[in-house]
Amino acid sequence: MPLITFEGIDGCGKSTQILMLKEYFEKKGIKCSVFREPGGTKIGEEIRKILLDNADSEMDPKTEFLLFAASRAQLVSQEIKPRIRDEFVILDRYVDSSVAYQGFARGLGKKIVTFINEFATDLIYPDLTFYIEIDEKIFEERKKEKKDRIESEGIEFIKKVIEGYNQISNSSRFVKIDGRMEQDQLFRVIIEKIKDHFKV
Ligand code: TYD
Repeated sequence: MPLITFEGIDGCGKSTQILMLKEYFEKKGIKCSVFREPGGTKIGEEIRKILLDNADSEMDPKTEFLLFAASRAQLVSQEIKPRIRDEFVILDRYVDSSVAYQGFARGLGKKIVTFINEFATDLIYPDLTFYIEIDEKIFEERKKEKKDRIESEGIEFIKKVIEGYNQISNSSRFVKIDGRMEQDQLFRVIIEKIKDHFKV
């Protein structure tokens, strides 16, 4: 079941790595699909708009999490399940984002987030998760001008997200990578791990 996820705080560089990995698979003639969270389906993209809309600063953390979970449930049933047998599926964020952002940073707790994640995904968990690590200083340096609702949270929030990722990223499916590296160097580390893990 080749499901690969990318995790990390905003600005860690995961989207670039995902594009490079997709190209790599395509060159080798290996079928692969990429989806982003929140989103990846028509319903999910609608949910994304609600979640990231800057005007809505009043959203309750429970509402926020359940919307992420709803987008996730739709993505799993509509896109991931039909593909998982004979394709590589690459996800730009998945279950761990909710544990780090909603469970830790928003304070909902790991337990309930994990429980609802399991319900939303029917226990479809990644084989491999690349956690691209940067600290809050690099986050500040790389910050975009135009921020979405969650990116608009301050540095204290991001520190809690990092703390969350640190607490969950020691299990065996995680590969931690130093996000300060150049993109090409980062990619070499990722490819080595992919070759080793999936024998491709
Ligand atoms: P993302 O699409 O990675 O942001 P970008 O605009 O940089 O491409 O993610 C959008 C935001 O949603 C990001 O700040 C992280 C947040 N998020 C959560 O808080 N919980 C989740 O479960 C997911 C999937 C994302």
